[in-house]
Amino acid sequence: MDATTVTVTGAAGQIGYALLFRIAAGEMLGPDRPVHLRLLEIPAGVRAAEGTALELQDGAFPLLRSVEVTDDARTGFAGANIAMLVGARPRTAGMERGDLLAANAGIFGPQGTAIAAAAASDVRVLVVGNPANTNALIAASAAEGVPAERFSALTRLDHERAVAQLAARLDVPVTEIEGVTIWGNHSATQFPDIAAATVGGRPAGEVLAERLGGADAARTWLDEEFVPRVAKRGAEIIAVRGASSAASAANAALRHVRDDVRGTGGRRTSAAVVSRGEYGVPEGLVCSFPVTSDGSGYRVVPGLELDDRGRSRLDASVAELVDERDAVRALGIL
Ligand code: NAI
Repeated sequence: MDATTVTVTGAAGQIGYALLFRIAAGEMLGPDRPVHLRLLEIPAGVRAAEGTALELQDGAFPLLRSVEVTDDARTGFAGANIAMLVGARPRTAGMERGDLLAANAGIFGPQGTAIAAAAASDVRVLVVGNPANTNALIAASAAEGVPAERFSALTRLDHERAVAQLAARLDVPVTEIEGVTIWGNHSATQFPDIAAATVGGRPAGEVLAERLGGADAARTWLDEEFVPRVAKRGAEIIAVRGASSAASAANAALRHVRDDVRGTGGRRTSAAVVSRGEYGVPEGLVCSFPVTSDGSGYRVVPGLELDDRGRSRLDASVAELVDERDAVRALGIL
């Protein structure tokens, strides 16, 4: 089988370190798919990325054909079939949101341009670096000639967190849970939704009501524990671990790309993709939706019911995405 070129930016960071070895081991693209890895860093990160490249060599991975480290975007994205944009500018003390968006536009705009110029014609791009949805929007807009649907942003970590919380509350294996959806922005405004989810094939709301002693108790748990816990899990990890989620983020990024290119097997998952107006989300925003893939890319699953409560939560998250887009536009970007 032909080798796939995978470019990972921010390769010297925490997520990069947790991600690269699993890609090299074939966990993302499958056991029959050789890979060329391209590690893109800023100059200050190149030395550490070279260290990671040495360790990748020491893994003697049968599928790993080559590893290249660079701080030049065109070199880094040359021939890329898959680009995982992990490196981003973190928010530092005293930084306003506008400053954060501008700093990241300065990264994701040029990277989008470099992808359009240098990547393979079938490139697919996952944005992990925050603010992920808006960074994906910026990269997609800058990548002239690359169809917007090739760009997505990571909300799979939020999805897995929701699945895990529901499974833990019901004391069932995570494999029993299907059809959870993360709607909106990858931020505290996101809406983790179980309205169309099932547990062991039965409606999740029904199973919860049975276990928690009625529909009201189920609703209270969803509103007061489940939704805020999933939406704020990133902060919880930082408080407990003393560092942000890295291995779980890498795991989610790997699953996102795996399912995008190998298909979801008919199961729904969540990913932030460019809206075509689905569920009333303004066209062009990168918003998390219920999705499936047959291997040719994520498609939004139509026709799920959103009740009034879900609708207003999605609207609030979409309003935040609109604000982010408008702030970027006001800076003359987009
Ligand atoms: P980190 O700080 O450990 O690593 C980031 C790396 O990116 C650094 O090595 C840095 O040198 C590099 N970098 C910065 N600008 C770059 C550029 N222009 N080109 C190439 N590399 C560049 O951060 P970590 O923990 O690996 O997280 C990376 C990003 O992922 C952060 O923005 C974080 O907020 C985000 N994240 C997103 C999640 C999601 O679910 N969407 C979950 C967890 C983290």
